[in-house]
Amino acid sequence: MKIIFKEVRVLDPESMRDEVLDVVIEGQKISEMGKNLDKREGRVIEGKGKWLVPGLIDVHVHLREPGFEYKETFISGSYSGAMGGFTTVAYMPNTNPVIDHPDMVAKLIKKGKTEGIINLHPVGAMTLSQQGNTLGDYREMKKAGAVALSEDGKSVLDSGVMKQALLKAKKENLPVLVHCEDPSLVAGGAMNEGEKSKALKIKGIPNSAEDVITARDLILSHETGARVHLCHMSTKGSVELLREAKKKNPKVSGEVSPHHFTLTEEVIDGMDTNTKMNPPLRREADRRELIKGLQEGVIDIIATDHAPHSKEDKNQGYEQAPFGIVGLETALSIGLTELVHTGVLSPLTFFEKLTINPARLLGIPRGKLQVGEVADLTLIDPDVSYEIQPEKFQSKSQNTPFTGRSVKGKPMLTMVSGKIVMENEIINETIKEGNQ
Ligand code: DOR
Ligand code: ZN
Repeated sequence: MKIIFKEVRVLDPESMRDEVLDVVIEGQKISEMGKNLDKREGRVIEGKGKWLVPGLIDVHVHLREPGFEYKETFISGSYSGAMGGFTTVAYMPNTNPVIDHPDMVAKLIKKGKTEGIINLHPVGAMTLSQQGNTLGDYREMKKAGAVALSEDGKSVLDSGVMKQALLKAKKENLPVLVHCEDPSLVAGGAMNEGEKSKALKIKGIPNSAEDVITARDLILSHETGARVHLCHMSTKGSVELLREAKKKNPKVSGEVSPHHFTLTEEVIDGMDTNTKMNPPLRREADRRELIKGLQEGVIDIIATDHAPHSKEDKNQGYEQAPFGIVGLETALSIGLTELVHTGVLSPLTFFEKLTINPARLLGIPRGKLQVGEVADLTLIDPDVSYEIQPEKFQSKSQNTPFTGRSVKGKPMLTMVSGKIVMENEIINETIKEGNQ
């Protein structure tokens, strides 16, 4: 049966199209786009006042399988993605055991297809068990389906090992998603270093902890020719470094998470550990530079760093609690509210950073709303206002600093390969591969 989105505002950043059209879905693909196509036989979905965009893609998610299934699973994580308008996510390898072997990559891909309702792509670890010493088998991991490499959660500290890793990744044309953090500068810190950390008597993390490794990894990308993508950029310095690096090296890119372009250390009270993540919330000057980076195109991608943790794990002292917050079910609304409705970014520029740019980074045939493309789509009501309620999340975890926040704009429908996986906040559980 065909599905027809009628009179919807089509936003396709790849072709720069921004136009009210009818869009027809047939099987797994977009079959027609144009005016007055609603006479086609099929289900008509009223699109007036709504936006249709390529399905959102998140290059930075923690699904916690294997080892931490009490925080998140492929099932709950994919439901969370679908609820947030995401059709594809790449998940990080800091699991237990670490995703560092081709057999494991293959096994997880199979499990993801059976249990997930959106596209789930594994990221392979750079070193075995993320110990920073021995490189994994990148060629076989790529063959098995890994879309990128990362040591997320930490950096490969030995610069010599890092250089070898980049040379090896380059051979396979795999992007390397770098978490930039020098632990000797973090030195047990739990929030941004400054007046606020002093006042709260919490150990601080200086900007330099991020900036020194950012500089190193950008230099090594230039030297090796490897593709280096900066994860969760939080400092003014890292934006400046990426801006400079891009002038002579097209292989570098960067991402920012909604919490870093929305919040600062000001929201930290020393009690609520849902404001604790790594890297930490910084100062207003950092936040402003991140926004500027988004506007200039220095920052290519918006990624959530969806990092679920249970209530028990988070219910510890500020210095003891784990770093991380969930993001899949708030990213779109926060982004629309903070960046689009404020006029900071045009809708096309905003969605470019959530669709075609992430698809290009991962090298996957997604991110375009065009005839002949796979029908991975997100329908959005840009005008609906609501308050964020974590108890409604599909994620197993509710660790968000955005509880009660008023936002405007919401995903109404998520479609993966022509099938509706979420509509009006209801997840379609019958969609899994085994049930099709
Ligand atoms: O806040 C974070 N949480 N940052 C990271 O780098 C890792 C992540 C996690 O795995 O919980
Ligand atoms: Zn992460």
